[in-house]
Amino acid sequence: MKWSTLLIFAAASVVSAQTYKRLGTCPSLGCIFPPDQTDFYAGAYFDIRLEVHSPVNGTEAFKNGEIDKDFTLCIQKGDGPCEDVTKFFTVEDSKLDTWTFSYYEDLFARDAGSASVVNVASKGYRAPGMYTARLKYHQTMETVAHWLVREPAPERKAKNAIIFIGDGMTQPMITAARMIAHKSINGRYQSLMQMDQMEHLGHQMTHSIDSYITDSANSASALFTGHKTTSGALNVYVDSSRDSFDDPKYETVAELFRRKRGGAFGIVTTADVVDATPAAMCAHTRERGESAGIVYTFLNGASGDTGLNSSLAWPTSCEQPDVIFGGGAQAFLPGPDSPNGTDFYQAFAKEGYNIIHNNTQLQGVDIEKKTLGIFSSESMSQWLDRHIYPESLKGRKNSPLGDDADALDQPGLKDMTLKAIDILQNRQKDSGKGWLMLYASCHFFLLAQVVKDFDRSEGASIDKMMHALDYDRALGELLELDDTIRATIAHLKEIGELDNTLIVVTADHGHGFDVYGSVDTKYMAAQTDPRKKRDAIGIYGESGLSGYTVAKGSSPDNNTIVVGSGGPNFPVQWDPRYTFAGGMAAHPDIREGWQVNKTGIRKTVVSGDDGYVANPNDQPEEGTIPDDNSSGVHSLTDVSVFASGPGGEAFRGVYNSIDVFFKVADALGLGAPSSESQ
Ligand SMILES: *[C@@H]1O[C@H](CO)[C@@H](O)[C@H](O)[C@H]1NC(C)=O
Ligand SMILES: *[C@@H]1O[C@H](CO)[C@@H](O)[C@H](O)[C@H]1NC(C)=O
Ligand SMILES: *[C@@H]1O[C@H](CO)[C@@H](O)[C@H](O)[C@H]1NC(C)=O
Ligand SMILES: *[C@@H]1O[C@H](CO)[C@@H](O)[C@H](O)[C@H]1NC(C)=O
Ligand SMILES: *[C@@H]1O[C@H](CO)[C@@H](O)[C@H](O)[C@H]1NC(C)=O
Ligand SMILES: *[C@@H]1O[C@H](CO)[C@@H](O)[C@H](O)[C@H]1NC(C)=O
Ligand SMILES: *[C@@H]1O[C@H](CO)[C@@H](O)[C@H](O)[C@H]1NC(C)=O
Repeated sequence: MKWSTLLIFAAASVVSAQTYKRLGTCPSLGCIFPPDQTDFYAGAYFDIRLEVHSPVNGTEAFKNGEIDKDFTLCIQKGDGPCEDVTKFFTVEDSKLDTWTFSYYEDLFARDAGSASVVNVASKGYRAPGMYTARLKYHQTMETVAHWLVREPAPERKAKNAIIFIGDGMTQPMITAARMIAHKSINGRYQSLMQMDQMEHLGHQMTHSIDSYITDSANSASALFTGHKTTSGALNVYVDSSRDSFDDPKYETVAELFRRKRGGAFGIVTTADVVDATPAAMCAHTRERGESAGIVYTFLNGASGDTGLNSSLAWPTSCEQPDVIFGGGAQAFLPGPDSPNGTDFYQAFAKEGYNIIHNNTQLQGVDIEKKTLGIFSSESMSQWLDRHIYPESLKGRKNSPLGDDADALDQPGLKDMTLKAIDILQNRQKDSGKGWLMLYASCHFFLLAQVVKDFDRSEGASIDKMMHALDYDRALGELLELDDTIRATIAHLKEIGELDNTLIVVTADHGHGFDVYGSVDTKYMAAQTDPRKKRDAIGIYGESGLSGYTVAKGSSPDNNTIVVGSGGPNFPVQWDPRYTFAGGMAAHPDIREGWQVNKTGIRKTVVSGDDGYVANPNDQPEEGTIPDDNSSGVHSLTDVSVFASGPGGEAFRGVYNSIDVFFKVADALGLGAPSSESQ
């Protein structure tokens, strides 16, 4: 059933468009979750939560904050009558709950410490359906939400599915990775990324439900459930209640797959397994940082305590995935991060899991059993360090056993992915149910690496997530992801499952990274005048060709590619004289020099009196282009081509600029035999 969205309720108060909101998806004082414009997959489970807000003060103050206990919700299917929710879904009315919260209306209010106070009355229901929901409150007010159930496809096409997510991966990064790892002769690549060779290409919009920049929790929720939400939230609509785990939930693809098909599923990541993206397979919370609750969900399923009606458990679950591989031991070991001091390694073992901690164990693991592989205390180490600069792995004290040893035998994304496929395939064998690998990610750009800072002035240890601007490590991760996709396709073919398996490769959001030229690092190092150093940057015609695909010691016109220790499809060298000039649209104070850091993750900033400042020991330069140039310059990113209508299907995929002509000519029949042309 479909309806046209004729009614646009522009009742949104001024506050809703601003950065600071009373509640992102509730611009009026009556809140319905799921909110207006929500789409559902037919038969998927979801919660309904109602809130009626009575602001005590601030610009929206209403009757001194008098609580409305008499609000009603009616549900209307298509043009039918609007029936009371309890009748419509034949559920009992739920208990009224009340609370108070406060928020700042803008930055002035924040600076003045003047919060606006809001009284809330709320009810919740757990009932599937599709319709118009009308909430009547404060006697005369009404909020309307239009819900759409989409028609599901009548037949199953793929038996298995793998969703690869390059966290933060954009087309400019893929283009840059191709440039450093694949040799080009006279403008023609001699080999391509595996991603370049996928059959279809599309784009997705990543914005969140109430802001145009998303975070990884919200974007992963959208990818895995079809529901957009607020930044920081995993598979719930954000309400204003006290408990971050009781917000109205909706079913994830893993939960749906389990419930409908009973197939196996696995999660593989190079990040912490409780990080937002892998957590979005199963978790339901508005606080992505609740790592304890997320591990608990992996083991026991989502909490039945919905705050809606505690006697009704969340009826769907992806508890106990067949495979969980990644980093993040901190959330499993008994300690301050683990809930109630639980040793989750033991708790999973008790449920029949094999527990493994290094690549040697991974290679020999029994593929009959459910397997938990936690290989590092935090995010797993980067491809570049594992393969090119292994000395830098020493001294990290990141053993998954929490014993302060170094995790030196970590598997790569490819090792984990291929083994996960074997386990899932073996556990489903001839059942025909298939399997789903919901996340084979690279914890990727960039490296949202946890950098631990010890803030001496406060005498307290703080964890700061920051993007390290370590382009080399980022591109190494991207190339490892591409190599993993390549190996996955080969492996699926080998085991006879390629034709049964849907493979999707996408990202959850982007970063403003791009490449715009090259850098002669030798010339840059030889100059003392900082303005003169800038001449080392070659733009447009001076950008030259990729120094990364030229073997060390060979002349630039020696076309022989000597494969480095990374294998084919990786750069021959990571520290050529001519590096690429690239950068980020959004960065803290930095110094730049475009050289690989061989000893570990680049450290761009240090903590100063006035916040984070450029690390004086980081690279040598501050500007980004030659100082005789007054404007910004072009960059490396691929450009998209959109086409529809007859012949339009030919424009799917990734191709060279020259191919555009052939496709246009083909569509017009310019190459057809003359008897058939006019
Ligand atoms: C919760 O739901 C159950 C089952 O529908 C019902 O019996 C019970 O009265 C409800 N409780 C509240 C507080 O709404
Ligand atoms: C609202 O009232 C609270 C105290 O009840 C006060 O702290 C706050 O500053 C007031 N906010 C505004 C915007 O007037
Ligand atoms: C921790 O303990 C409290 C109190 O015993 C209990 O209510 C809660 O469910 C426990 N949490 C977990 C995640 O086990
Ligand atoms: C792998 O882990 C096992 C079990 O903890 C340990 O016995 C073995 O020495 C480890 N191997 C390597 C290479 O670290
Ligand atoms: C090209 O470079 C490789 C690697 O340094 C070297 O082995 C080879 O002899 C060179 N070939 C020519 C023709 O110079
Ligand atoms: C290189 O990496 C190491 C280890 O992370 C770090 O201590 C150092 O500051 C980095 N150097 C630069 C120039 O970023
Ligand atoms: C910037 O550099 C380009 C390419 O070298 C050159 O054509 C252009 O004139 C320069 N612009 C200015 C303002 O100097």
